[in-house]
Amino acid sequence: MSEHFPATRMRRLRQHDFTRKLVAEHNLHPQDLIYPMFVIEGQNQREAIPSMPGITRMSIDLLLEEAKELVELGIPAIALFPVTPSELKSLCASEAFNPQGLAQRAVRALKHVVPNIAVITDVALDPFTEHGQDGIIDESGYVLNDQTIEILVKQALSHAEAGADIVAPSDMMDGRIGAIRQALEVNGFVNTCIMAYSAKYASAYYGPFRDAVGSAGNIKGGNKKNYQMDPANSDEAMREIALDIQEGADMVMVKPGMPYLDIVRRCKSEFKVPTFAYQVSGEYAMHKAAFANGWLKEDEVILESLMAFKRAGADGILTYFAKQAARLLVSK
Ligand code: PBG
Repeated sequence: MSEHFPATRMRRLRQHDFTRKLVAEHNLHPQDLIYPMFVIEGQNQREAIPSMPGITRMSIDLLLEEAKELVELGIPAIALFPVTPSELKSLCASEAFNPQGLAQRAVRALKHVVPNIAVITDVALDPFTEHGQDGIIDESGYVLNDQTIEILVKQALSHAEAGADIVAPSDMMDGRIGAIRQALEVNGFVNTCIMAYSAKYASAYYGPFRDAVGSAGNIKGGNKKNYQMDPANSDEAMREIALDIQEGADMVMVKPGMPYLDIVRRCKSEFKVPTFAYQVSGEYAMHKAAFANGWLKEDEVILESLMAFKRAGADGILTYFAKQAARLLVSK
């Protein structure tokens, strides 16, 4: 009597926690996480963001305290987003490169008080324009590419001068990485890194972020589709990434995150460069809503969602869950 056994029992390695750990192909660590933070004027100020439960806007003094906590948790970097008072917004976005602007002051304070956390700055004009678009517009509302780049270059330089470790252009103008890289070199900032938001899609998942920085309702034209990418496209993302690498980006980013993990995987496989992904505000909000309703288990889903980025090939993840996830990982 010949008995039939499966030649391979896949379940053998799944039997124990220790064997599961031994054969795990990917791991998630606090060092994979980048925490986006919203900064406001004032002293001892903290404001809740209703569409992002658990995330607050905070003044620089509180930001410094929180940054120390992040270092303790093993988080290597934060991404700073300033909230500009409306009286400082203008058509030419000149507050973007004010050496005494909120972002620039926050960077200086962070590098002074908490020097061992990397500071990533957002290079884009939307927090500084009256209309909420990421650049200088003409009469019809169209964002002018080359005029916008001139301002972005000044903004990036002001961040580098303040001590930013990494500048992250999130504007999607053509040629901005090359222009910023050139200006950094000429001005002696040869070691300032550029993390390019290379494949940034015109996504509806950014809504809560726009609430957070106060660029929400007022986007003239209603969307950013003539510069951010069409969610229908994948080959085009590879062209964007190739251009940014050629122009001098040190790291590239895909954004949003979970709905675009196919782009993350293609990026990593095709270019083999440091690849980052942004689990954006809308992804955070929908998770939080499900947790609040008891529909999903919070801790497990957070870690699973972040592991998915690692599996897709991301070297790091910008996520509003960074602090919470690092706590879970540290206590595991
Ligand atoms: C601004 C910027 C945006 C985000 C990061 N930088 C918003 C936008 O392009 O409208 C979104 C981040 C998020 O949703 O969490 N250029």
